[in-house]
Order: sequence, then C-alpha cells, then structure tokens
Amino acid sequence: MKIAIIGTGNVGTALARGLANVGHHIFLGARNLDDEKVKKLAHQHKNISAHLVSDAVAAAEVVIVATPPAAVPAIAKNLGDVNDKIIIDATNSVVAKPDPYQNGVEALLALTNSKHVVKCFNSTGFENMANPIYHGMGIDMFVAGDSVKGKEVACQLAKNLGFAECYDFGGNDKVNLLEQFALAWINLAIIQQQGRNIAFKILRRDR
Ligand SMILES: NC(=O)c1ccc[n+]([C@@H]2O[C@H](COP(=O)([O-])OP(=O)(O)OC[C@H]3O[C@@H](n4cnc5c(N)ncnc54)[C@H](OP(=O)(O)O)[C@@H]3O)[C@@H](O)[C@H]2O)c1
Repeated sequence: MKIAIIGTGNVGTALARGLANVGHHIFLGARNLDDEKVKKLAHQHKNISAHLVSDAVAAAEVVIVATPPAAVPAIAKNLGDVNDKIIIDATNSVVAKPDPYQNGVEALLALTNSKHVVKCFNSTGFENMANPIYHGMGIDMFVAGDSVKGKEVACQLAKNLGFAECYDFGGNDKVNLLEQFALAWINLAIIQQQGRNIAFKILRRDR
C-alpha cells in the first residue's frame, strides 16, 4: 500500500520504519526536505522516500497524520484532493487542541474532502509502535471513527506492524474517548512513572 506519513518525529518514524519493513511504500511528508532527520530516514530504507507534504499525499492511498495537534488545521487545508483517500489521525489533543476543533479527526473531516478519517496509533507510546511484541505476545491497538473502510485499513496496518488485535472504539463520537484512553497510558507511563515500556491488552475468558 502507498502510505503518506506527515510528521517525521517519534511516531512518524516508528510507523514509517515498521510499515516499510513489511513491504508498504512510505512517502514521508515533510516541511523541510533538507532536515537531516528526514534525509536519514528516507535513505535508510528502499521503501521510504521524502517529499513535500502535498506531493506525499498525492502519491498515496492512505495518509497518516503524526504531527502536533495544533498543526493539523493548517496541514488539512493544504492536503489537496483527498476524496478517495483514507486519513488516519495519530494525534492526541489532550493538552493542545487543533483550535477551534476538539481533535484532529474533527479538523480533518471539516477541512478536507475525505470522508474516511479515523483515529488510530494514538493510544500507546511510539516505542510500542516500533515494537508491539511483549514476551512473544502482540499488544493491542484501538481505532475510532465513522468510516468502516478507514477503520478496516487502519486495523490492517496495525496488524501488519505486529499488534495482535485492533479493537473498534466506535464512531466519531468515541474519538475523544480514545484520546482519553491515550491519556490514561500517558498518566501511567509518565506521570505515575511506570515507564514507557507498558501497554494495554484486552484479556477475555472463553465464552
Ligand atoms: N510520542 C508518542 O509516544 C505519541 C504516541 C501516540 C500519539 N502521539 C501523538 O502523535 C503526534 C506526534 O507526536 P511525536 O512524539 O511524533 O511528535 P514529534 O516527535 O515532536 O514530531 C512531530 C513532527 O511533526 C512535524 N510537524 C509539525 N508541524 C508540522 C507542519 N505544519 N507540517 C508538517 N509537519 C509538521 C514535525 O516536523 P519538524 O521536524 O519540521 O518540526 C515533526 O516531524 C502528537 O500529536 C502526539 O500527541 C505521540
């Protein structure tokens, strides 16, 4: 699959490497192509190339947004025609928000022509996106949004990365809840000092 990743920081880098490793073609969307970090990432893997944001999006079927939430409205306005593209919003508006919107999904739905905008890859630390395996067992990912197609693709990518299951949190009305779920991870990992090597997994008794 051709995937544009906007943002080449912690999350963008982990997703780019992981998805490139399993055969996806990654088009990094950067605002500065001379940035050493961007150049290094693009040179590291034959499946990763670096572009300006609009060029990366034009080349891709799926767009992952991994920037600070406050940057999302400006980015959304410059995505171009994304009518037939799926947008996966990995941002968390738990501190700053993409003003005047509540979260990235709301902003992207309002400011682009994509109907397939979902929230995913927000609920755990970037280290867990780079390596979702604990003691031989995959941890879980979670997704929210109204687009069934968008959620299917996001979950497929999560499983490609090694997440065991990808649970549906619900529609657009559950996006804020999924961000609060991320805040629960942040609280445990950072504020309560459990460390970033912790992850959520759903356990189930036999039915
Ligand atoms: N860190 C985590 O473990 C984690 C986990 C889940 C979700 N998240 C969420 O994921 C998002 C990214 O987090 P991160 O830790 O990866 O942040 P980060 O390391 O600070 O990276 C942010 C990236 O966004 C880029 N960016 C900022 N404004 C931009 C713009 N206007 N156009 C294009 N690119 C822009 C930055 O590019 P420059 O280098 O040019 O500044 C940088 O590459 C945040 O919303 C965060 O809440 C983070």
